[in-house]
Amino acid sequence: MNDIRDDVRRGFVALYGYEPSGLWSAPGRVNLIGEHTDYNGGFVLPFAINRRTVVALALRDDRLARVASSFADEVVEVELSELAPENLDGWSAYPLGVAWALSEHGADLSAVSGFDMFIESSVPVGAGLSSSAAVESATAIALNDVWRLRLDRPVLAAVGQRAENTAVGAPTGIMDQSASLLGKQDSAVFLDCRSLESQVIDLGFEEAGLAILIIDTRISHDHATGGYAERRASCELGARMLGVGSLRDLSVDDLPRARETLDDVTFRRVRHVVTENQRVLDAVGELREGGPAGIGDLLDASHRSMRDDFEISTRELDLAVETAVLNGAIGARMTGGGFGGSALALIRREDLSRLQVAIDGAFAEHGFGQPDTFVVTAAQGASRES
Ligand code: GLA
Repeated sequence: MNDIRDDVRRGFVALYGYEPSGLWSAPGRVNLIGEHTDYNGGFVLPFAINRRTVVALALRDDRLARVASSFADEVVEVELSELAPENLDGWSAYPLGVAWALSEHGADLSAVSGFDMFIESSVPVGAGLSSSAAVESATAIALNDVWRLRLDRPVLAAVGQRAENTAVGAPTGIMDQSASLLGKQDSAVFLDCRSLESQVIDLGFEEAGLAILIIDTRISHDHATGGYAERRASCELGARMLGVGSLRDLSVDDLPRARETLDDVTFRRVRHVVTENQRVLDAVGELREGGPAGIGDLLDASHRSMRDDFEISTRELDLAVETAVLNGAIGARMTGGGFGGSALALIRREDLSRLQVAIDGAFAEHGFGQPDTFVVTAAQGASRES
C-alpha cells in the first residue's frame, strides 16, 4: 500500500504541479458466494480484498473537474455544469460518472468547487475483482469528504452503481460497490440486496489455516455488452411469468411449479438464482456455526449451477475449478459476473504452492494462455488514507 500511495501522490504532483489535499482508497472484491443474485433482490457474500485503488484529490478555485490516471495517457476535463452521462465515455466515465451520480443522490453540484484527481490501482482490470467498483468507491468517499456531503456508505454504494449503470452503461447490481465500501478485515459482507441490510460475517480463514487463491484466467469480460444483460433479462422474464416482483420471492419449493410454467432455458436461469440464494444462507450458517472448512461443497455446487444452469462459465474457468478440486481445494468456483475473469479456490495454506504449479501445468496442457494466481485476504473497505 505504501508504494501505491507514494506513486499516486507523485503522479498527482507531476501532472498538476502542486500537492493533493488528501488520498482516499477503496478495495476490489471477491464474491465468496451469491452470484447473479444481487439484481434479483437476493443475497450475496462478498469480501473486500487487499488490492486497492487510491485517488489523490484537491479542490480547485473554479468549476473544472480534471481526472487522470496511471492507466491512461490523457487528462479528461469537464465543467461541473456539463457533467451528464451522455458527455462521458471511456475510463473517465467511472470517476466522473460518480461526480454526476452524487447530484442524483442529493448533492447540489452548482454549489461545489471543481477538482483535480489522479488515480492509481492495484486491482487487476477485467479479472472479475471489481476494479471498476474500486474506482467508483474511492471517488465517492473522496468527493463526499471534500464536498462535505455527509452521505452514508449505503448511499455511496448506490451512487457508484448509478454511475456504472447510467454513465458507463453496464446494468450491474449493488454487490461490488457495497463490498468495497462496507468490507471489514478478515470478514465478508452478508448483504440482503432487497432491504440493503448488511451484516459482517467473520471468515476465520487464518485461524483455520485456509487461504483463498484467485486464479485469473486473463480472459477479460465486459458487462456493458452481451451475456450479462441477457441473463438479467431472463431473470426478469422468469419472475414476470411466475407472477413475482423478483426471483428473491421464490424458494426451492417453488421450483416444481417453475419447471411446469417456464421454457427450459428460463427455468434453468431461475433455478440457478433460487438455489444460489439458498447456498448463501447455508454458507452464512456454516461460517457462523462450523467455520470456513464447512463451505466447500456449497462453493462446488455454486460453480456447477453457474456452469450448467446459468451458463456463464468458460472452459478456462471450468479447468481452473476442476484442477483446484483435484489438487486439494476444499471448494472452488468461478467468481464475479462470468464469461471470463477469475475462479477462487478455498485451500489449506500448505497446499497452495502445489495447486499453483498444477494450475500452470493444466493450462499449458490445454493450450490456454498462462493464468495469474495469487492469494487474497479480506481487507478493510474504503477509507481516507491521509
Ligand atoms: C458483476 C456485477 C455485480 C453482480 C455480479 C454477479 O460483478 O457488477 O453486480 O451482478 O456480476 O454476481
